[in-house]
Amino acid sequence: MQSFPAVDPIPLPAPVWLLKLLHIVTLSLHFVAVEMLLGGLLLAVFLSLFPISSRSHGAARAIARRLTVVMTYVINLGVPPLLFAQVLYGRALYTSSILIGVYWISIIGLLMLTYWLLYRFTARLEQEKSAWWVGLIAWLLAGSVARLLSTNMTLMLRPEVWRQMYSASAMGRFLPPRDPTLEPRWLMMMAGGLLIGGLWLIYLAGRATFHADQKQYLAALGGKVAAGFGVVYLAAGVWAARVQPDAVKDGLAHHPLYRFAGYAGYGWVALVVVAILIGAAAGFGRITSGRVGLVGWTGAVLALLVEITLVVYRDGVRDLTLLSKGYDVWDRAVVTNWSVVALFLVLFVAGLATLGWLISVVARAKKEMEGAV
Ligand code: HEM
Repeated sequence: MQSFPAVDPIPLPAPVWLLKLLHIVTLSLHFVAVEMLLGGLLLAVFLSLFPISSRSHGAARAIARRLTVVMTYVINLGVPPLLFAQVLYGRALYTSSILIGVYWISIIGLLMLTYWLLYRFTARLEQEKSAWWVGLIAWLLAGSVARLLSTNMTLMLRPEVWRQMYSASAMGRFLPPRDPTLEPRWLMMMAGGLLIGGLWLIYLAGRATFHADQKQYLAALGGKVAAGFGVVYLAAGVWAARVQPDAVKDGLAHHPLYRFAGYAGYGWVALVVVAILIGAAAGFGRITSGRVGLVGWTGAVLALLVEITLVVYRDGVRDLTLLSKGYDVWDRAVVTNWSVVALFLVLFVAGLATLGWLISVVARAKKEMEGAV
């Protein structure tokens, strides 16, 4: 029986490859911000709960101050991929969103609460009040949002359980039956947060707003966290790849198009290994203070490349899974309105350039020294 709803008679306004490209670019940026939030927040909570050194409080405060800004990027960079995903996979994604409707809609409330708690966390750290529990609640809420997103992105690939879920509740009151790909996928995003959070600390160590001993502390701590959790991230990624159905594994190895997603998977492994080695070098004092800025930037570029390769691989997994169930994302009527596409692209590039300019203004602004207890 055909489980996917009938295709929308309105044709796509731009070629599938272009929508996919934009989806991959924007989702990679969303993932970088998400990982900074999940990992940075947990690190700040840990440092404020267990001040392992006199520098810990300053480090927690430095991260927390930036998290409210990171959260704006998480949200704003989440909207574009949501729109592109709905255009390309609407028949699957709308269905799964409705089937877990109560949980899906709750994300809005969870986000608002998380955002408010991030401000409270930072304020309490600034006022030298006990703050770890506020940060921990914010982290648990952000982790639940991540969990719900993983749940929906896997449910959209399982038309075989939709009918049974809809019969159980047309109100979207139930979560889907167990899916072997969900745990590794979610764990991967959570562990990836600590890899990227660790690289972020190394990057911060290169900033001029910290004194030499604080820089050393940030680089050593960030390096150890990146190296340790990079290994967990790698293991979760391999687990997530291994539990994929045979049709997907086969497609990633042999399909004329999707074997490139398979190569991206190998690229991801190589990049994570490089990130672990950089983390280990920084963590065990193998990087001189003069080099820490360069290493920090290398870590930032690596973080972006890790997310791009992950998103390309993940895209292949999704398309091949859907293809094995009768949904071909390429099989759509397209009537491109090139003038509108051109206008969109001009505005898109202008938007990214404005974002880059804003970041450069913040980077160049005169800042107070930070990180002191
Ligand atoms: C605390 C806030 C957020 C966290 C922690 C978070 C985390 C995540 C995670 C972990 C995934 C990957 C799920 C998976 O495939 O396993 C994801 C995907 C996604 N997120 Fe977010 N997210 C947040 C906010 C948002 C917001 C506000 C939006 C949009 C308005 C958004 C849009 C998306 C989209 C569209 C995807 C998947 C796209 C696709 O697969 O095509 N996220 N997010």
